[in-house]
Amino acid sequence: MTVAELQAEIIRLKKEKNICILAHAYQGHEILEVADYTGDSYGLSVEATKSHCSGMIMCGVRFMAETCKILNPDKRVWLANPAAGCPMAEQLDVQGLRQLKKKYPGYAVVAYINTTSELKTECDVCVTSASALEICRKLDNDKILFIPDPNLGHFVAEQLPEKTFAFYDGGCPRHKMITGQEAENAKAAHPNALLLVHPECCPEVTRQADYVGSTTGIMAYAEKSDAEEFIIGTENSIVEHLQFSCPDKKFYPLSVSLTCMDMKVTTLMDVYNCLRGTAGEEIELSPEVMEGAGRCIRKMVE
Ligand code: 13P
Ligand code: SF4
Repeated sequence: MTVAELQAEIIRLKKEKNICILAHAYQGHEILEVADYTGDSYGLSVEATKSHCSGMIMCGVRFMAETCKILNPDKRVWLANPAAGCPMAEQLDVQGLRQLKKKYPGYAVVAYINTTSELKTECDVCVTSASALEICRKLDNDKILFIPDPNLGHFVAEQLPEKTFAFYDGGCPRHKMITGQEAENAKAAHPNALLLVHPECCPEVTRQADYVGSTTGIMAYAEKSDAEEFIIGTENSIVEHLQFSCPDKKFYPLSVSLTCMDMKVTTLMDVYNCLRGTAGEEIELSPEVMEGAGRCIRKMVE
């Protein structure tokens, strides 16, 4: 089958089975083309609450499929490729969190959505890169334990000097590898380009950026901007998608090594096989996790 034939078959099957396909923006272009919704983690969570389909396939990583299931307890949700996990989501477990809570009594626990559902059961509220600042600002508690990404945490904390923050030493293994020197070098190589970066990058990088935002935020900024050249400081599929949607503008990767192999593990064939029922994993969570993590995720969506 050619890619076009496979895509046509996926579209036929998803209509026949009343299943919608959600794809994170880091997926390949051929997957985005068959998706009903594409976007960042926040957009996927919101969209998951609106869908009228009887089932959903997540093309992204495990915590995204779990979020989808928690927001849709009566629907069947599949992760297109069960091997797709986010290493950051596994960095802190419940025992580790309990120790941190003892160290920081009275702090509100704010969990980045890139965490396991089990961990979310012990947190106060969930945030995504697109919603973290607003949610932390609106929290009644002015002491915040932000887990597990200290880069996103510091980005938020710098804008909320009236609040006290504590962090965990985790973070995205891909984004945090980018150094301030690399950002300087990229700006020197492309002096007319704007630097757009994800808040999972370290402060030495975000402080040099013209815009810091979620994957969808970066794409929207570049699409609307009058500028013609951009250095993109997030997963390199965003460079590809932007070059496709804005052929007259120029996009440069901040680092050629900014590739998330976990996001890239899902293929079009996985989506097809998941729809046929021969691949993928149906997400099943215990009632305790559905309830506990649901409280934390629904608070974010609200
Ligand atoms: P977004 O919130 O921008 O989708 O980011 C998720 C992610 O995993 C970035 O590495
Ligand atoms: Fe996780 Fe980083 Fe990949 Fe995002 S880019 S899914 S945070 S490993």
